[in-house]
Amino acid sequence: MTQVHQLPLVGLLLCLLIPSHLCKICEISEEKKSYLNPLLRTMNNLKYTNGVEAANVLLSLRLAGFCSQDLEQKLIQKVKDYVIKKISDLSSGQLAWSIMALGACKTPNEMFIYEYNMVHVLENKFQEEIEHMDHALFVSSKYYNETECQKTLQTVLKEISQGAFNIPTAAAQILPALVGKTYLDVNKDSPCVYSSAVNISIPVSGSVTPATSPSLIKVHYSVKINKTYSTNVTVPSGSVFLDVMEEAQKQNKTIFGFTMKESSWGPYITSVQGIEANNNDRTYWEILNRGISLSQGVGSYIVHNGDYLEIRWSKY
Ligand SMILES: *[C@@H]1O[C@H](CO)[C@@H](O)[C@H](O)[C@H]1NC(C)=O
Ligand SMILES: *[C@@H]1O[C@H](CO)[C@@H](O)[C@H](O)[C@H]1NC(C)=O
Ligand SMILES: *[C@@H]1O[C@H](CO)[C@@H](O)[C@H](O)[C@H]1NC(C)=O
Ligand SMILES: *[C@@H]1O[C@H](CO)[C@@H](O)[C@H](O)[C@H]1NC(C)=O
Ligand SMILES: *[C@@H]1O[C@H](CO)[C@@H](O)[C@H](O)[C@H]1NC(C)=O
Repeated sequence: MTQVHQLPLVGLLLCLLIPSHLCKICEISEEKKSYLNPLLRTMNNLKYTNGVEAANVLLSLRLAGFCSQDLEQKLIQKVKDYVIKKISDLSSGQLAWSIMALGACKTPNEMFIYEYNMVHVLENKFQEEIEHMDHALFVSSKYYNETECQKTLQTVLKEISQGAFNIPTAAAQILPALVGKTYLDVNKDSPCVYSSAVNISIPVSGSVTPATSPSLIKVHYSVKINKTYSTNVTVPSGSVFLDVMEEAQKQNKTIFGFTMKESSWGPYITSVQGIEANNNDRTYWEILNRGISLSQGVGSYIVHNGDYLEIRWSKY
């Protein structure tokens, strides 16, 4: 995964940081709410969701009023584990997101925020980083034309149906805008709202499959550098690209060995066969199926039987 497919989202994401009258996507009407299902499904797929992503998803679902109690519990646990483990390493943004997510509505979790002194830690970090924020707010207001909010909504809904925003963080960031909320609407004193208004039927996926043994699927997998190295891999249905890579790595660590990093956009591949992607050389590890570049990351692309997967040393 690279910055490449994040770029078109940037304008919309900034929308969530500024007062809504400056940046208006029209609120989606009640009868069109089923258009949001792909976003909700993406956010429900927690298998490789890390702490930052969990915070994004939790805040978004709470703000939009689409959280179920069960999902909320799982997300809260992920965010707490993450904060406990990493509080000193988090950026102000990551920490702010965690605070907002945990405190977005009235629950016993507010205690957690104070126990860990999260707000104080945030103040210190924020001082160091504040210039960047100013810049972002300044840039955003010129992207939007109020009178065109319906057009923006149509565009966004079309993109959702085509599978854009199919990374949990992307889905989490667009959802509140579509129901007329921004992060300025976070109110720690309002009670948490639980909803089943929208049909959150989760696709069969590794994270939710019950104890019955999952069916297996077979995919072809190759690493392309200057030469192509291929193998066939069998994984449980519902597996994602990363599961295939791990399985191949077990077969032969020399040719399929890889390293990865966590980010708020999900895990991404840093090296394969010891060859590192490098911003200076504009190189990255591209993931493809049947020669077509995938817009999702290794942690979110759910593989299908017969997929012809490839990870390719590429330039952008
Ligand atoms: C917004 O868009 C409408 C229709 O495209 C156009 O007539 C109007 O001038 C635009 N307003 C601004 C402030 O750009
Ligand atoms: C929810 O989705 C499932 C599967 O797509 C469908 O069978 C069911 O009727 C839907 N329920 C509602 C309330 O729309
Ligand atoms: C691929 O081949 C080119 C030209 O032969 C060479 O310069 C480059 O270092 C090779 N790349 C890798 C990753 O082996
Ligand atoms: C993978 O399986 C296909 C048929 O299922 C076979 O043609 C191909 O040779 C296999 N590839 C490898 C690398 O084992
Ligand atoms: C891994 O692949 C390389 C190159 O094909 C081969 O030389 C090596 O023996 C393989 N290792 C294992 C453990 O199969």
